[in-house]
Amino acid sequence: MEAVGYSLCRIWMLFLLFCVGQERQMSPPGLVQSSCRSRIFWMKLNKLLLQGKFFQLEINDPYAGPVLLDDRLASRCGYILSEDVWGNPVFRASVLSCYVVNEADELFSLTVNIKVSSFASMRAAVTYTYPMYCSYSSWASREIVCEENYMEVSVKTDVPAVSNDYTVAWMSALPETQNVAYQVWQLMFVSPSGRKRILVSDAAKLGYSFNNTLSRVYLRAPYHSNESEISVVGGVDMNMITSTSMYRQRWLLLLIDMTVSCPLDGTSFTDTTLTWTVPSIIPTLVLQESTFLSKTILMGVDGLHIVNPDKNNYLLEHNKTHIAVTIPIGAEGGKLKSSVSGGVYGIIYSIDLFLEHTWTDADWQTTKYTVIKSITTPFMPQIPTVINNTLPEEKIFNVAFGHFLPDVSLVAITIGNVPFTLREAQHQGYKIYETPFSNGTKEFILEVSFDDPYVLKEYVNRNETKYTLLVNYTISVGPEMIPYYHSAEVECMIADIEIPEAVGYCDEENLYLIIPGFGLHQYWNLYLGTKLLNRHTAHTNGYLTATNATHLILQIPLFAVGVIYEEVSFQKIKARFDVALRKVRTMETLQTFSVSCNFNSPAFILCYPDGTVIISAQMKTVPGIDMSRTQLRDSSCKPKEYNKEHAFFKFHVTTCGTSVRFEGDHIVYENEISYEKEILPGQSQPTITRDPDYSLTVLCYYRTKETVMLGAFISKPSASHPSGSGTIVPRSNSAVHRRIRQALNVVSRVSKSASFVDFYEPNVAILKRPTESVFLEVELKDESPDAELYLDNCWVTGSLDFNSTPRWNITVDGCEINGSEYVAEFCSVAASSRVRHPSHFKRLAVRTLTHRLKQVYVHCSVVVCSAANTLPGIPCRGQCSPSTERNAFLGHNSAHFHGYVLAGPVWIVESDLR
Ligand SMILES: *[C@@H]1O[C@H](CO)[C@@H](O)[C@H](O)[C@H]1NC(C)=O
Ligand SMILES: *[C@@H]1O[C@H](CO)[C@@H](O)[C@H](O)[C@H]1NC(C)=O
Ligand SMILES: *[C@@H]1O[C@H](CO)[C@@H](O)[C@H](O)[C@H]1NC(C)=O
Ligand SMILES: *[C@@H]1O[C@H](CO)[C@@H](O)[C@H](O)[C@H]1NC(C)=O
Ligand SMILES: *[C@@H]1O[C@H](CO)[C@@H](O)[C@H](O)[C@H]1NC(C)=O
Ligand SMILES: *[C@@H]1O[C@H](CO)[C@@H](O)[C@H](O)[C@H]1NC(C)=O
Ligand SMILES: *[C@@H]1O[C@H](CO)[C@@H](O)[C@H](O)[C@H]1NC(C)=O
Repeated sequence: MEAVGYSLCRIWMLFLLFCVGQERQMSPPGLVQSSCRSRIFWMKLNKLLLQGKFFQLEINDPYAGPVLLDDRLASRCGYILSEDVWGNPVFRASVLSCYVVNEADELFSLTVNIKVSSFASMRAAVTYTYPMYCSYSSWASREIVCEENYMEVSVKTDVPAVSNDYTVAWMSALPETQNVAYQVWQLMFVSPSGRKRILVSDAAKLGYSFNNTLSRVYLRAPYHSNESEISVVGGVDMNMITSTSMYRQRWLLLLIDMTVSCPLDGTSFTDTTLTWTVPSIIPTLVLQESTFLSKTILMGVDGLHIVNPDKNNYLLEHNKTHIAVTIPIGAEGGKLKSSVSGGVYGIIYSIDLFLEHTWTDADWQTTKYTVIKSITTPFMPQIPTVINNTLPEEKIFNVAFGHFLPDVSLVAITIGNVPFTLREAQHQGYKIYETPFSNGTKEFILEVSFDDPYVLKEYVNRNETKYTLLVNYTISVGPEMIPYYHSAEVECMIADIEIPEAVGYCDEENLYLIIPGFGLHQYWNLYLGTKLLNRHTAHTNGYLTATNATHLILQIPLFAVGVIYEEVSFQKIKARFDVALRKVRTMETLQTFSVSCNFNSPAFILCYPDGTVIISAQMKTVPGIDMSRTQLRDSSCKPKEYNKEHAFFKFHVTTCGTSVRFEGDHIVYENEISYEKEILPGQSQPTITRDPDYSLTVLCYYRTKETVMLGAFISKPSASHPSGSGTIVPRSNSAVHRRIRQALNVVSRVSKSASFVDFYEPNVAILKRPTESVFLEVELKDESPDAELYLDNCWVTGSLDFNSTPRWNITVDGCEINGSEYVAEFCSVAASSRVRHPSHFKRLAVRTLTHRLKQVYVHCSVVVCSAANTLPGIPCRGQCSPSTERNAFLGHNSAHFHGYVLAGPVWIVESDLR
């Protein structure tokens, strides 16, 4: 190389730069940052200022102009273009790289053109010319640089001096290497495949760079060239090129050892650290190991020496065989990055390190060995965690989702399967915020009220609600903004359900239960034994129900189905009524509401499922009779107790002459209480009986279905639920009698049309237009064919309640009346397959006159008369008879033959909601 040309050349180059300066621009401030770090040109482009544009680098050849930088050029010429851990493009070049203007091996300059374009084709690129300078004079005899894409060795060419008088002579005899055209040099490689000698002019073709400078000769090689081999030193793979450069001139042969060896990897990872190991002594570089002496070991990050590695928690260790750098994952200087791999969230840590080892040995005086390595950990899965910080007292879910690096952002959230963007979520009232931690991580906090409509609520245990928040987070991960989903389920149970407590009381004929808290009925139901107690069952059992905003009021007649008779004695009954509060789903009994009262009842009949019949019979006769002489059909069956007007019997249906017969789906047991007449002995005929001819028929009805297991009668003697219904029917003509029954068995139905064929099912909403009639049918059940049903008073109200007001009468004393709001009209009843006894039926068409929309109920009180007079009661005079007559036969006793029916609700609606 022509040393003379140097300064000239440099002036020329500056001139050239000056000349072309007009079309080439200075780079914007901050875009480029450069320095000279330990004989390496180091340049960084600011990623943010590049604004995502495309860029290219050109190396300025001072003699021939710009050369585009590509990988092959880079590894041959001593350049590297990569990225730092923050994603900024980084360019490094050796001071011995191609196109560097070298001034006496001390001052170096290199000019790079940075071309920036918005297009991948680099169309309309802006070119920034960027000159860099390096000064470096502390050359070691041998310097080896292991870059990421090349290995470079440079050695001093002033041959080690021989210290004797001949030195000067010798030196003068040696060729001045720097003046020898490098083409005369040859390179000899020794590899397992043998020796190979090449002319320097051919080196570039094989990817090598061989040249000399004023005082040095250097060889640069890519990794894994054909002439290289891999050896393992202290467990680290090394790429090694054994070569000698030769200069021969007549009798002189100059040989320079240009062997180079660089580590290929040497990294290892634990969960928390990364370790980079480089051999201390590389045998091919240190031929006389006994003379080896390590001088300094330095480490650096991002091209900068770290004087005190401990400060950053880095660990630099070395022993005879190894140098090791250990970096905690996440340590300063490197960068943590979030990523998603195979659907798993995780992090990656990268750091750019270098090591500089200086040693001496007998052959080489000083060797400076520099390794530059960018290390990235493998993907480290890190399942995000959801932390439950729920505050049950405040009824707020507080859920933390973390921990994340700053390169993660929350973009959307799904609550209870409803997706929300962050803005929508805020609008919905969810609180979402980030909490940063001192170590730079953060978590996302979500607050949702238990009362939120998208929170699932489940009634559990006795009095608890289980609130469940289903959340599915969508986060955007890392610089690549990969979407990642994480779902979680957080639940919290709190005892916020109050089990209602009922209040019970009685009047003379009924038991009452007042049950609060019916707003929560979706959680539980009332049960009568195993049967659901709803409005329908209540009415068929003869209970009256009423509700207001807060309470359910249940009226249970003493002799209604379901009443338990705890103690039955002469004229006295201790009755109890139980309603179970059960959970809707599990049927688990939560609470039993119970009312228990003592009743003084002068007359009753109880027919127990075990077949026991208990009768307290009242016999008011004139003249009075001796109750001790009353008896059942079997005259040995006498009253257990008695007083002046009452007799108390207890017997089994299989005894005392009880007869049995079937009536429809009922089995009927019949007996008779009669009086054993006292015959007064008289002198002459006829015999005068002092006592009235008096008897009571006693009937017990059991449903056949329930009676099939007659045997069970005996095995369950203590059963206290009367399953049968009883009546006591006087047989006497006497006007003074009592029929011991609380209510007639009457049912009501609403027909779909005037034909009374097709009826609405119970519990089905009945919708009518204001012009349409409501067709009501009332049927008397379980009575003899000659009984006739009367609708006595019928009225319309807006509620179920018997006593509710306002009420509009539609029939009074069995007569239709024309009210101002409603009119009613009786419809005829003909016998049919369904209507066996037309006299047991009454039909009414009810119509509204106003067109007000509302919900209505039709109530009717009913009475029964007897045509054949076989039944006691009023004689039959037709539905609407003159009031004077009615008053005559509707004496105070008529109250005992009453019944009551209710129909509805019927919704009077305007629209076509049918
Ligand atoms: C060797 O260096 C000289 C001076 O820098 C240069 O002119 C020449 O092209 C270089 N040779 C090669 C093969 O790089
Ligand atoms: C030197 O350190 C390396 C790794 O740090 C270790 O494997 C080796 O055993 C050590 N050698 C000696 C002689 O302590
Ligand atoms: C950051 O700090 C939080 C809170 O102290 C901790 O839970 C988390 O594990 C830390 N993360 C890292 C990567 O150190
Ligand atoms: C819920 O029920 C449990 C017993 O099952 C009882 O100890 C607790 O006091 C009840 N809590 C409330 C609020 O009613
Ligand atoms: C969360 O949302 C993502 C994207 O909509 C979906 O693929 C994933 O199945 C959801 N996870 C759950 C548990 O619903
Ligand atoms: C969440 O936290 C609440 C309050 O500490 C606790 O009652 C509940 O059991 C927790 N839920 C889960 C699923 O961990
Ligand atoms: C409902 O009726 C119950 C029992 O009669 C009574 O205690 C309660 O105050 C009533 N509630 C309202 C809102 O009227």
